[in-house]
Amino acid sequence: MDFYVEPSENLSGEIEIPGDKSISHRAVIFGSLASGVSQFTNFLTGEDCLATLNAFKEMGVFANLSDDQLIIHGVGINGLNKASEVLYLGNSGTSARLLVGLLGAQNFESTIEGDKSLSGRPMNRVLDPLETMGANIRSNNGKLPIHIKPVNELSGIDYSLPVASAQVKSSLILASIYANSQSKIKEKWVTRDHTERMMKSMGYPISSTDKVVSVESKGKFNPIKLNIPGDFSSSVFLIVACLITPNSSILIKNVGINSTRVGFLHIAKMMGANINIHNKRMEGYEPVADINVKTSSLQSIQIDDSDLVSLSIDEFPAIFILAANATGTSTFKGIRELRVKESDRISSMARGFQKLGINTVEFEDGIQIEGGKLDGGDVECFGDHRVAMSFAVAGAVAKNAIKINNVESVGTSFPSFLDCVKKIGICINTNKE
Ligand code: S3P
Repeated sequence: MDFYVEPSENLSGEIEIPGDKSISHRAVIFGSLASGVSQFTNFLTGEDCLATLNAFKEMGVFANLSDDQLIIHGVGINGLNKASEVLYLGNSGTSARLLVGLLGAQNFESTIEGDKSLSGRPMNRVLDPLETMGANIRSNNGKLPIHIKPVNELSGIDYSLPVASAQVKSSLILASIYANSQSKIKEKWVTRDHTERMMKSMGYPISSTDKVVSVESKGKFNPIKLNIPGDFSSSVFLIVACLITPNSSILIKNVGINSTRVGFLHIAKMMGANINIHNKRMEGYEPVADINVKTSSLQSIQIDDSDLVSLSIDEFPAIFILAANATGTSTFKGIRELRVKESDRISSMARGFQKLGINTVEFEDGIQIEGGKLDGGDVECFGDHRVAMSFAVAGAVAKNAIKINNVESVGTSFPSFLDCVKKIGICINTNKE
């Protein structure tokens, strides 16, 4: 399937976007470990979260998903069973990293596999500290497939994360549940804290202060009811579309605005974006609001090893689209992590910009982007959902139509993307081959 996007204007309307991907993964994981039945509404039915859900079903958890309502019958922290099959996690890095932490602590064996992109992504960042805790894991040179041997008990860990990664932090938190003592996980950069918030909301003994998470072992999870906030990272594609398209104004309702996720708002505002947050409230332990966006005239920005990087890590492809539409030349450095996401996002975006007549310079840890007017043309998304959606919204303001080839990966995080962007007025279509 490809996207064809034509120049558009006057984007408008009120819209809600599907549930947060990170929180939906955690809903499945902690709902499964709870002692009792949890209920989640606005669950994201993207392929990544369904991969996590299927893995837990394989391990004996009963769950019922009807539209976006997930009812999950938790089995308690010691109630999972050995899966009869290999656990196939598709494209989902979050599923893989979090599950390795949890399964590395079980008294049964498991094997984890993924698609080509996931099988190329680094896993030593979780395997090394898990081995220190006593996990017995075989990998393919630090990559998937991964085979996990049974263990009786892990040791607690006192660990400083060498990379800014909520996936690594969460993986170690999950393993720490099964340790023989308390664990402490320390961060240099703040990363998303949905794991900590959901565990607290379920009554698990975990605390976090000043970039140190302390996890008691062998606690218990009470079941919860939660309406999952809309995914801020998905909303960013609509925000970017509206900022760059003439005469536009939209309202996006019920979006998660957890401070560990909204670095994009600070970056966009520094570039001159007209974005207003209204109606702030809480859904469980997660802050939520409505976001009003208006067409803005954007200036270039310089980002160098900023604390904002880990707070906007998934948003860089979309931020690059803002930079391409801004006045002046923007430079982004200290974003090396983008090279090990679903694709090498620095190179994927640079290659697309080259096709669309936007000048870029690639660095090992970043990119420089000269603002201008995008031509039309054909771009690849390299199997990366966020690259596909970024170029799709850029198509609204290019001189001619943009075609984005092979966009199936959009289904991993934002299956209703096409309907949502059409609804606000972007001229977009697909061809199914
Ligand atoms: C995620 C953490 C981030 C992010 C990913 C989701 C999570 O990855 O890129 O989309 O749910 O914990 P890293 O922690 O590896 O940066």
